[in-house]
Amino acid sequence: MPDRPYILLSCGMSIDGYLGSATPRRLELSNNADFDRVDAVRASCDAILVGAATVRTDNPRLLVRSQSRREERTARGLPPSPIKVTVTDRVELDPRADFFTTGENEKLVYCARPRVPDARSRLGTVATVVDGGRRVEMRTLSEDLGARGVQRLMVEGGGKVHTQFLTDNLADELQLVVAPFFVGDSRATRFVSDGRFPWNPGRRATLAGVRQIGDVVLLRYALSPRFQTG
Ligand SMILES: NC(=O)c1ccc[n+]([C@@H]2O[C@H](COP(=O)([O-])OP(=O)(O)OC[C@H]3O[C@@H](n4cnc5c(N)ncnc54)[C@H](OP(=O)(O)O)[C@@H]3O)[C@@H](O)[C@H]2O)c1
Repeated sequence: MPDRPYILLSCGMSIDGYLGSATPRRLELSNNADFDRVDAVRASCDAILVGAATVRTDNPRLLVRSQSRREERTARGLPPSPIKVTVTDRVELDPRADFFTTGENEKLVYCARPRVPDARSRLGTVATVVDGGRRVEMRTLSEDLGARGVQRLMVEGGGKVHTQFLTDNLADELQLVVAPFFVGDSRATRFVSDGRFPWNPGRRATLAGVRQIGDVVLLRYALSPRFQTG
């Protein structure tokens, strides 16, 4: 079986476990110090993955913001920012989205085989469309990224994507930030949806660290024996 990268899930949520609000607008959960920490994590990775809904809702650039971190990467022979990765079924992605138009780094779009022709005609000029097989499984996707040289993958959400990496037992690490407010609207997206998670009352996850960053708290969970403490 091909090697999969080290997989780090990164997420900010409200006290009541929501990733955003019920409106189709990005909700800022974190603070500047934590955004900078996330930037450092990004700079340490070879690829960043988000679900297509996050591309549509948040319009993220997914670039390393700090000039010095970009320069450090370049000095190590890496592109200034990691490869950007998304996954879609409906292929309703705008080629003018910041995901596609910002950064010189490679952009990969995974979709199921029947959707590939449509995806190539819509996005073929701005991204590499990858045939994800009959149905895109996060394990296969991760192994394909490994074969492309990705050794460290950061998954930045949203909830549907996090749920699959967790229920498929693919995550090595979770970095969960809790913001000090409630969303209080069940129409909003939760950190995860229903599923059979490998961590449960009978098999507790390992809490590897807790850090206060201004008004938020970072919880680090070691989810596999491959967990890297650094
Ligand atoms: N707080 C945070 O850290 C954070 C981070 C990221 C996002 N968010 C928030 O999270 C919300 C979005 O999360 P979400 O759970 O709704 O969506 P998501 O996980 O971002 O994306 C889900 C979409 O990805 C595609 N997808 C996922 N798995 C797939 C598979 N196996 N095969 C094919 N396509 C697949 C589908 O796209 P199609 O619909 O195109 O078929 C699906 O609808 C937004 O509110 C965003 O602001 C918060």
